[in-house]
Amino acid sequence: METLVILSLAILSISASALGNGEDLKTQERLFLNALGLSARPKPSAHRRVPSVLWRMFKRTSTRENDTHERDPCMVSEYGVRGNIVRFVQDQGRLVSGWSGSCQGCVEKYMFFNMSVLQPVEQLSLAQLEIKFQWDMFRTPRFLLGPQALSVSLYKVLRATLRGASHEAHRRLVLSQSVQLEPEAGSLTLDLTALAQNWLKPGHNYGLVLELQPHPIHTQATDIFMSQNLVNAVPVGPTITLPEFHASLVVVSLNPLQCRSRQKRSAVYLPVTPSNVCKPRRLYIEFKDVGWQDWIIAPQGYLANYCHGECPFPLSESLNGTNHAILQTLVHSLDPHGTPQPCCVPIRLSPVSMLYYDNNDNVVLRHYQDMVVDECGCR
Ligand SMILES: *[C@@H]1O[C@H](CO)[C@@H](O)[C@H](O)[C@H]1NC(C)=O
Ligand SMILES: *[C@@H]1O[C@H](CO)[C@@H](O)[C@H](O)[C@H]1NC(C)=O
Ligand SMILES: *[C@@H]1O[C@H](CO)[C@@H](O)[C@H](O)[C@H]1NC(C)=O
Repeated sequence: METLVILSLAILSISASALGNGEDLKTQERLFLNALGLSARPKPSAHRRVPSVLWRMFKRTSTRENDTHERDPCMVSEYGVRGNIVRFVQDQGRLVSGWSGSCQGCVEKYMFFNMSVLQPVEQLSLAQLEIKFQWDMFRTPRFLLGPQALSVSLYKVLRATLRGASHEAHRRLVLSQSVQLEPEAGSLTLDLTALAQNWLKPGHNYGLVLELQPHPIHTQATDIFMSQNLVNAVPVGPTITLPEFHASLVVVSLNPLQCRSRQKRSAVYLPVTPSNVCKPRRLYIEFKDVGWQDWIIAPQGYLANYCHGECPFPLSESLNGTNHAILQTLVHSLDPHGTPQPCCVPIRLSPVSMLYYDNNDNVVLRHYQDMVVDECGCR
């Protein structure tokens, strides 16, 4: 099935313009997108920045051929958990209140991570919340950028209410912690795996509420700032500048169906001598040619190869024929019209890693098996 998809993609690439058959192309595209776990071709509204950890992981996996030790393909060593899919799920919640309601002098943010991007077959291994704080250098006066601490409270919302997620009876404290903010940036990571497991059940994900309360440390800078406020008789609360923050949920999951142990990849050497005998042929698939460059971030294309050639009698050992294929060539040599030659097909394939935007604009890194033809055989 996966082999089929690859060959279809190859055909798609070679003859996209020549074929011009819209329906067939759509079917092939749908097959391939299904194999990637996507419901439709993603149309990212904004090309989000790719988190640097994902770039690092992508680069490492795509130069894996060089490794002397084969890594477990279904282990994400960066996070120390099993998995073959890493997603940066974006927060889709909104700002609930600033300086009002139950939270005096603080900011409240509703956070929602849509977990329906995970397919039912996937097993969640890790959900890690990352909140990055960043000062807006253009809007924050320079003297305010001294070290500052934030008290951070995180609540899980137990159920939706008419009065909104902030209603206190319907939420439970998950974490309360003080975060030291560096002059430029700071961050907070938190393991939410157990909570996210629960979010996977239908009707269980009501999101989180994040409360940020600044408590300036008494440094010279903040003292100046405070006294200025007193002089001007402005309430202290609203004038305290909070850093901008951005939350994402790193979700590592395992699709066990794509977890065969990795075979050692041979140094793929494709002979250039023209020959009609069954062997791998060079095929570079460029995603631009199939119009996918807007949602596949990397690679831009890859060396997929394909199998082509004769399986002539007598079938030599290098053609990797099965007993059945050997007998079929024998029969074919006796009765060329009645029985065809065996087919030249991929017998060893290797994986590639892909970095792309999914249907919800999340950045995803995923390892796909059986994407590259390494060896062919007569079957
Ligand atoms: C693979 O290893 C060779 C020799 O050690 C090195 O020269 C080459 O740069 C490596 N290639 C990659 C992609 O890391
Ligand atoms: C979550 O994503 C799914 C699939 O992309 C979508 O159908 C659904 O409406 C989203 N849910 C929310 C609450 O945004
Ligand atoms: C058959 O397999 C051998 C090793 O298993 C490989 O070297 C050879 O290239 C394969 N033949 C073809 C046609 O790919």
